[in-house]
Amino acid sequence: MGTAGSPAGYRPHTSIAAAARGTWPVLAWATHHAWDHGDGGSVSGEERPVTVSIEEQTVEQLGGPASVLARQRRDHAEMDRLMDRWGALADGEERERVLKEIVQLVFSHAFAEETVLWPAVRRSVQGGDELTSLVEEEHQEINDLVARIERLSPGSSEREEKVRRVFALIRQDIRDEEDVVLPRLQESLPAAQLRRLGTAWDTVRRSAPTHPHPVIPRRPPGNALLGVPLSAYDRIRDAVGAGKARSRSSGTAGGTGDAETRQRRQKRLEIFLNDHLAGAAAAAELARRMVQEHGDGRYGDTLRDIARQCGQDRLALQRQLGELGIPVKHYKVYGAWLGEKAGRLKPNGRLLRGSGLSLLVELGVLRLAAQGKALCWRALLAAARRDTRLDAARLEELLRRAERQMETLDALHDEAAGALLADAAAAGHGA
Ligand SMILES: [Fe+2]
Ligand SMILES: [Fe+2]
Repeated sequence: MGTAGSPAGYRPHTSIAAAARGTWPVLAWATHHAWDHGDGGSVSGEERPVTVSIEEQTVEQLGGPASVLARQRRDHAEMDRLMDRWGALADGEERERVLKEIVQLVFSHAFAEETVLWPAVRRSVQGGDELTSLVEEEHQEINDLVARIERLSPGSSEREEKVRRVFALIRQDIRDEEDVVLPRLQESLPAAQLRRLGTAWDTVRRSAPTHPHPVIPRRPPGNALLGVPLSAYDRIRDAVGAGKARSRSSGTAGGTGDAETRQRRQKRLEIFLNDHLAGAAAAAELARRMVQEHGDGRYGDTLRDIARQCGQDRLALQRQLGELGIPVKHYKVYGAWLGEKAGRLKPNGRLLRGSGLSLLVELGVLRLAAQGKALCWRALLAAARRDTRLDAARLEELLRRAERQMETLDALHDEAAGALLADAAAAGHGA
């Protein structure tokens, strides 16, 4: 890496046509490179069989409409359509709305890729680590560019130029995935597995962050741990932002517009609160497990108290949903997924077990969950100014409790870390 033709020197103008002409995009280069490593041979890229792009296959060949390949292609086509639409529109509110839609779609799509899909590629595709690193670089570039776009005022020439650059990057990302990464995954997994991956990918995508966040790492479990609370924050931001935009333009709108606004708002609240509930359920489950494991230790009482509060937070949210007439949806699926992510720290941490480090890791996860709750209560409080169905006083109380949880968990973490290091030092002395 780092030599000519390597990712560092790539230009975002490659396409499937370029691949067909033999001027391969960087991902194709990396695939060949990985193959050469994999089989030890020296066959050049031109002598390799060209895998059929996802773009050129029927839905049946992709494993049916539920397969992750078909789902990816549908999303990519929608991105393409929206980018074309943006290009065809004159500067104005509608063009901004389309751009916002593109950003939301691209970010949730990419987050779910990084959380569910790329780990699967790394597990099952030869050279998968290298391939996914390159796509992650593209995602990072898109992330940085959109973060800059969001800070520039609409209509400025700098912003226009950056939007066009980000569209070129998104299009390249689509080509690299459809022409190189996804066909490799297709070769490695049976259709049933591709459909299971499709369900998992879609579940995460529905609750993923919808804006760029420089603090989110590109790989699990870090992306999930930080992405989940930020996702909830993004979604309420979208909901409140959209509410504002619509109320500005609703001055001349009739009753139908108001009803539609209310309906959309209710839908957004439904998604937001269900996401939030999923996070709260996962945190309560983790806290419960921690009591089971560490309840007899010196932090047992504090952990029991935290677990009790986490349970109450979950119930408070469930009540909130009930009061707003919102049905509880797939939080179990999502909670199980988050639980699996948190659980991942455990098998990996077999070495940590017994050393006390697993407690530190779990406290860190719980601290992130508390931070996520605080962000969400704060976002709901902001929404309560516009929505009288939300109980601001109750939300203030919940926010204070989440902040106290963060303080308690920080103190507990410091105490446990201090004790652990002291124990280690004593053991080192005794050795
Ligand atoms: Fe994609
Ligand atoms: Fe992507």
